[in-house]
Formats: sequence, C-alpha cells, structure tokens
Amino acid sequence: MRRFLGVAAGSTLLAAIVAPSALAQFAPVAPESTNAEGIRDSWLFVSIFVFGIFVLVEGLLVAFIIRYRRRGRPRFEDGAPVHGATRLELMWTAFPVVVLFLIGAFVFIELPGIKDVPEAAAGEERLEIKVVGRQFYWQYEYPNGVIAIDQMRAPEGVPVSLEVTAPDTDVIHSWWIPALGGKIDAIPGIRNETWFRAEAEGTYSGQCAELCGLEHAQMLASVEVMSSEEFDAWLEQRRAEQDAGSGELAKEEWEGVCAKCHGMNGEGGIGPRIAGSPTLTDPEALAVLVRNGRRTMPAVGSGWTDEQIAELADYLTENPPSGS
Ligand code: CUA
Repeated sequence: MRRFLGVAAGSTLLAAIVAPSALAQFAPVAPESTNAEGIRDSWLFVSIFVFGIFVLVEGLLVAFIIRYRRRGRPRFEDGAPVHGATRLELMWTAFPVVVLFLIGAFVFIELPGIKDVPEAAAGEERLEIKVVGRQFYWQYEYPNGVIAIDQMRAPEGVPVSLEVTAPDTDVIHSWWIPALGGKIDAIPGIRNETWFRAEAEGTYSGQCAELCGLEHAQMLASVEVMSSEEFDAWLEQRRAEQDAGSGELAKEEWEGVCAKCHGMNGEGGIGPRIAGSPTLTDPEALAVLVRNGRRTMPAVGSGWTDEQIAELADYLTENPPSGS
C-alpha cells in the first residue's frame, strides 16, 4: 500500500512541476476587465481541484495496474474478499462534499462581480451600447444613434453596459470578447445584459460563440478601447458622417454583412457572385433585397434605416466590387 501511495505522490509532484507552463496554454486569455478577472479566478480555483483529482485518480490507476498485475497466477483465480473499510469510505464521501462546497462558495462569491453592472458612483461616466447579433454580423447602436458593425469602440475605464439581443427573424448568437468578460447569448426577442470596464487601451477580439449557420466562423467581433477623449471625438465624428451620409458605416456594412457570404470583391462564396449586379447600386432594389432576404439569403437588413441602405448603395456605386 505504501508503495502505490509513493507512486501516486511522486506523479503528483512531477505534475505540479510541469503544470504551471502546461496549464498556461489552457488558461483563459489575460483579463482586461474586472468581470473577466472574476471568470479567470473561478476557472483557476476549479482547475486546482480538477487537476489534483485527475493526477490522484490516474496515479492510483497506474499504481494499481502495476501492483496487481497477474504475475503468472491462474487466469480465473479470485482475490481475497474484502469487506468494509470504514475510514476509507468516510474519506471518499467527505472529500467530494468539501470540494463541492468550496467550489460552490467561491463561485457564489465571485458571481455578482461577474454578472452585475457596478453601481454608478455620483457623476461617474457611463455608456450603454445595444449589441444585436445577426446572421452573420454584430450591429452596435450607441446612445446618440451611431451605428457600427463588427468593430465596437469603447472608452477606457468607463463601465459599458451592453444590451445583447437579436431580431425576431434571426437565430441565437452569443457575444463573447474573452478579455472583457463572459459570453452572453443574443436571443431573438430577449434582452440580455452584460458589461465591461476595459482597463487598458487596445483592441480585444472575440467571436460569436453559438453555432448560427454556415458563416458562424466569420462572425468575428472586436472592441477597440481608446481614451475617453478619443472615444468622444470618434462618436461625434461618426454622428456627423452618418448625418452627411458618408463615412465608414457603408464600408463596414459591405465587409461585415455582404462580403462574408458573397466574397470581398463580390466574386461569390457561400452566396452567389454579385459583382456587376444592378441591384447593388439601386437603393430601392437593394432595400427590398436586404430587408426581406431572398431564397436562402437571410433578411440581413431587416430593421435597417433608409440611411443605412442609401449609404451602402452610394458606397457600392463609388467602389463597385471587382468580381475577382
Ligand atoms: Cu452568430 Cu455564430
């Protein structure tokens, strides 16, 4: 008995030495928001038990295989019958209870910090962004009516609460920027809430985390975090551009909404080739198509404003897709 415990302890020790570097490969990305920290800490806490139990069980398994191998005994010989081992039985009952209690307690302590948007301090800046998941893009709606696709901008150090949803005609998607917190489903007709407060400037990338159709893998998202002043300037400029019917939005619509299925140059992909189609530059025909879809094409632009469609038609008139 002492010998297998020795083997088990030895392999535990070896694993503990190898573990930190090996474990790092599986660890969540470095958190950049307090709610993401809570998720990472819970992951690490649970991992300690998962890893320890894995090593203990596998170590004992290997030790028992070696110790109790047949060694030339007759094939059908039974071992000595063993009845009762009260101490061992109590141990393997109490130990899991304690482990589950510790994990449960830790997660319940962390959960409010992950889930709940922190209470606003007096005079503290706040931002609310509506996040709409659609086949196969993310649309963001800022409080001043600015619309953006796939790439979100946000100010550093400001709590940003997100209202995550999907149109009734769409399917379930899932918003997930790992460095900025956990994923939350975008469900047609339901408003889910999450939040983040980015601690450093930079671009954090993520991905739709719910299989939502053929182009699910293309449904990337990112959050570019900038200083508060830069963000305010960007938001104002975007508002002015949108009023003037020019600017980045149309390009984001083409690349984020059309090109994922029809190819960057309209050369065709899972959707047909559209380069050269007169519909692209005719706002009325384009409106009917993107608002209603056609055959297997989803209604990608249902709920789009007339400006959104007009901008796209203008953009495609000025930058006709080359087709190759
Ligand atoms: Cu949207 Cu996967």
